[in-house]
Amino acid sequence: MTDSRTPFSAQLRIGVSGLGYLGATHAVCMATLGYRVVGYDVDEGKVQALSRGILPFYEPGLPELLREMQATGRLSFTSDLDDVAEFADVHFVCVGTPQARDSDAADLTYVDAAFTALAQRISRRALLVGKSTVPVGTAERLTALVAEHALAPAEVELAWNPEFLREGFAVEDTLNPDRLVFGVASEWAERQLRGVYAPMLERGTPLVVADLATAELVKVAANAFLATKISFVNAMAEVCEAAAADVGLLARALSYDERIGGRFLKPGLGFGGGCLPKDIRAFSHRAEELGVGKAVGFLREVDEINLRRRARMVDLIREAAGGDLRGVRVAGLGAAFKPDSDDVRDAPALDVARMLYLEGADVRIYDPQANENAHRVYPDLEYVSSLAEAAAGADVVALLTEWREFVDADPGELGDLVAQRRIVDGRRVLDAGRYRAAGWEYSSLGGAVTTRVAADVRRAG
Ligand code: UGA
Repeated sequence: MTDSRTPFSAQLRIGVSGLGYLGATHAVCMATLGYRVVGYDVDEGKVQALSRGILPFYEPGLPELLREMQATGRLSFTSDLDDVAEFADVHFVCVGTPQARDSDAADLTYVDAAFTALAQRISRRALLVGKSTVPVGTAERLTALVAEHALAPAEVELAWNPEFLREGFAVEDTLNPDRLVFGVASEWAERQLRGVYAPMLERGTPLVVADLATAELVKVAANAFLATKISFVNAMAEVCEAAAADVGLLARALSYDERIGGRFLKPGLGFGGGCLPKDIRAFSHRAEELGVGKAVGFLREVDEINLRRRARMVDLIREAAGGDLRGVRVAGLGAAFKPDSDDVRDAPALDVARMLYLEGADVRIYDPQANENAHRVYPDLEYVSSLAEAAAGADVVALLTEWREFVDADPGELGDLVAQRRIVDGRRVLDAGRYRAAGWEYSSLGGAVTTRVAADVRRAG
């Protein structure tokens, strides 16, 4: 493959269609590599915000980089597709693939529309690169779709280049990926992608060059594996609860086996967000379509284990409250699906808050970043703007998202605010010993937490 290497060329012009999490980050990061970049989105509001240097979502480090890149003159945004269609040598398509309204399948409306609209306008040689997470076979179907609609069918080609960035680490993950995957149908396409990613390849970033289908599958397989790992440890948590064992200790002991590893092995409220839950469902759906549903049948179980954690958390809060949630004031700490994010899509925290509310609890939610998004999804719930306000007069405190602010809270000070010193730790991140020493009734999802374990975990960081 070395003969197909293309040296880095800052002359390359990059288009990014779809300026959500993935696209906005990708556009900014491509500009940091020295390319001229035009980002396109149908959403005028998003384009205007970005053009003014305002990021429409929370991502540490990205707003600064956005403004820095805009100041270089290399990065601009538009809601006029013609501006980007003729501009770019390589178009990255980063539009969303949410779960369909009426099934577990991925909704490919936006992907289809984005590729078709670009193909209809491009009259020059260009590579269209899909980055969205899609069911295997989509790229092949899109290749046909593009050929059918293209203004210049011989000039445009399609490739797939999945993205593995995590929210909260978006810039770091994009600029220093642990691997690159190119799904290509020709050497030319591979050369284009090698050119784009030359700065990373020169640093030795591992590259897998594959066919389109494999590249699509890598992404869903990676997310399926991560989800499975989380649900595995949460299944162990269920067993630990029944057997009066400590899943924290169990996970820690497992993590020292390098074949297993400790990442994504944290027991707790489980996974949420805009990716893992819908990706495993779409994967199951696609596998069934392909007649191999049984091969990934375990993903249904992975999903169920994950959802059971939420229900179990509600049980623990109810137990802490004495068996009935009606009229009980609960401080809901967190709404985002994970810390350092304002994303509430399929957020376990918000789901728990909703279930508590439906059982009659008086829930006050505080999230350092996600209150606004959460309010949009569940306007009936009550949101407050500080930890102190959430805790004031609470009968039970529920730790739902492990923001640093919550982990670092002082049990004594928090105790002065609440009506009852009862806390349920849904993420197993609090120092049980300190809480108990400060007179709290501490319980945690996944069974016992000994003082020693909590201290060990904190020391290990
Ligand atoms: C995930 C993947 O990690 C990325 O590699 C992928 O690119 C992305 O989806 C995507 O498909 O776009 P992200 O959704 O940002 O990234 O979040 P993660 O950091 O993976 O966390 C997912 C969920 O798992 C969170 O709710 C988190 O709280 C939970 N989690 C994570 C656990 O419950 N336990 C763990 O040990 C780790």
